[in-house]
Amino acid sequence: MAKSDIKQILFSRKTIENRIKWLARKLTKDYKGKNPILICILKGSFVFLSELLKNMPIPLTIDFVQVGSYGKRKIPGKLKFKKDIDCKISGRHVLIIEDIIDTGKTLKFIIKTLKKRGPKSVKICSLLDKPSRRKVKVPLDYLGFTVPNKFIVGYGIDYNEKYRNLPYIATVD
Ligand code: IMP
Ligand code: MG
Repeated sequence: MAKSDIKQILFSRKTIENRIKWLARKLTKDYKGKNPILICILKGSFVFLSELLKNMPIPLTIDFVQVGSYGKRKIPGKLKFKKDIDCKISGRHVLIIEDIIDTGKTLKFIIKTLKKRGPKSVKICSLLDKPSRRKVKVPLDYLGFTVPNKFIVGYGIDYNEKYRNLPYIATVD
């Protein structure tokens, strides 16, 4: 793997794992007896989801959603579900698992769409938050780390589909 594009390591594997264990303990406590459905936003969040799951010993289900822009010119802001969830969420406690919140537009769209389906609750759990670029307000219930206004890769997060397999979180040039 070309490491030359990697500028600075922000969080090591151990630091990330410890923080996710801490988050998982909190979630386990908050969702005990609620049989939540964890909805993972593809692709970036799958590594975060799998690390969370290994540390959440309670009944739960998981599902996946993928969002993309529609139209020929991929106008930002015009979003649709490229892949919808399979489960019914009516009456269920939904926990959305996101990799990084940037402008907030993706999450806002997902929350709005899912809320129409009558879930009992919808909460957000994101590994990273980049608050400096926020355009729309989104509720953030569980957070791993806040990151600076830099391009981030690793731990599932990509730059042009590269670097998802880095076991740490870093900035690129
Ligand atoms: P938002 O709709 O602007 O909040 O963008 C959310 C999505 O953009 C995230 O789920 C990521 O997939 C992607 N994204 C935002 N910032 C970064 C970054 O620094 N590196 C890689 N992907 C990013
Ligand atoms: Mg994403």
